[in-house]
Parts: sequence; C-alpha cells; structure tokens
Amino acid sequence: MTAAVQPHDDENVVWHSHQTDKAFRAKQKKQKPCVMWFTGLSGAGKSTVAGALESRLAELGHHTYLLDGDNVRHGLCRDLGFSTEDRRENIRRIGEVAKLMADAGLIVLSAFISPHRQERQLVRDLLPEGEFLEVFVDTPLAECEKRDPKGLYKKARAGEIKQFTGIDSEYQAPELPEIHLQAGEASVAELVELCLESLKQRQIIR
Ligand SMILES: Nc1ncnc2c1ncn2[C@@H]1O[C@H](COP(=O)(O)OP(=O)(O)OP(=O)(O)O)[C@@H](O)[C@H]1O
Ligand SMILES: [Mg+2]
Repeated sequence: MTAAVQPHDDENVVWHSHQTDKAFRAKQKKQKPCVMWFTGLSGAGKSTVAGALESRLAELGHHTYLLDGDNVRHGLCRDLGFSTEDRRENIRRIGEVAKLMADAGLIVLSAFISPHRQERQLVRDLLPEGEFLEVFVDTPLAECEKRDPKGLYKKARAGEIKQFTGIDSEYQAPELPEIHLQAGEASVAELVELCLESLKQRQIIR
C-alpha cells in the first residue's frame, strides 16, 4: 500500500499494489508529481494563472492536468449542490481525482475557490508530504469585484445570489501557503514565473 492510502472500513476490500507504479510513471515523465491547489476569491485569477502556467509547463515538455471549478460540476459532481455538506463532498471528490492524477505521474493544477481551511486540509491529508502545494491567489476583494467577469458580484450585491464568498460567506485565507501570489498588482506572466520558480526550488521540475 502506498503512502496516504486510507484503509477501507470493510476488511474484504483489499488494496492491490501494481508493478507499474507512481515512481515509474513519474520517472518516465521526468517530473515529480504534485497537486497545485489554487485558492482565492471568485475573480482572483485562479483559472487564468493556472491555465497560463499549464501552457508554460506543456511548452517545457511537462505532463499536466487542470481541474477547473465549474467544469467539474458539469460531470463528476453534477449531482451536488451548494450546501455545506455538498461543497465538502465536491472538494473530497476533486481531491481524490487529483490524487489519482498525481498517482499517474502528473502535475495537477486545480482552480477552486475552496474557501474553507478545513476542506483544503482534507485534500492536503490525502496526499503524501510535499505533494500538496497550496497556491494562494491573493487579490483584494475590491479588485475582484471590479473585474467581475461573470457578473456574479453584481448579483450577490443585489441579493440575487446568496452565500457568495467574500460578500455574505467567509473566505478563510491560507495561513501558510506554499506559494503566495500577490495577484492584484502583478501581471499573469509574472505570477506564472513565480510559480515556475517555486516548482524548480522544490525539484518538481528541472
Ligand atoms: N493578474 C491579473 N491581472 C489582471 N487581470 C487578471 C489577472 N488575473 C486574472 N485577471 C482577469 O480577472 C478575471 C477573473 O479571472 P479568473 O476567471 O481567472 O478568476 P477565478 O479566480 O478563476 O474566478 P472564479 O472562482 O470565479 O472561477 C478575468 O477577466 C481575468 O482575465
Ligand atoms: Mg475560475
């Protein structure tokens, strides 16, 4: 059994270790797998920065997969709503998928608001030490609201959307993120460079 595998409650469900494993797949891809978990307010730039970083990594010959917010709700999590319980289940499923993808040897990028520390910790706990990189896309609320590309802040201020993060629902900022992007005043290209530097420092890429 590999690290961070939780035993199943039913003792008849037994983990089968295969010969072609995570280490082999990572070596084949010449990279160290990890999950870069982008978190921040709506409009902070999570999808934009994660997408641009993925393009740069692809140019450098790396193997990646980007799991992006609403896209997941169209399929894997289409049965889930926005209650506290459903949000938690949403993140749990995404965490398990990200873990499978890291097991496939990929550099996984995810872009979810994921406003609660507890849910981000839940994903961190699924992964071996050093494989979960919390990326705080730290853009002031005023800037996010000014951008408002989906018109969601406008609707939230008008009371048409309830429980909107940053307006009438709390965003719990990461306390010790692996990567802290002051994303309100930097260009996307600069932010991508900061992420690449951090990946090199951590020897995830060369
Ligand atoms: N560094 C930046 N400088 C200026 N504008 C930016 C920057 N990053 C993102 N933007 C712009 O801000 C808007 C919101 O970005 P994006 O969609 O990536 O946010 P998000 O964090 O993914 O939000 P959501 O949680 O709603 O999906 C977009 O119009 C994007 O072009
Ligand atoms: Mg997004």
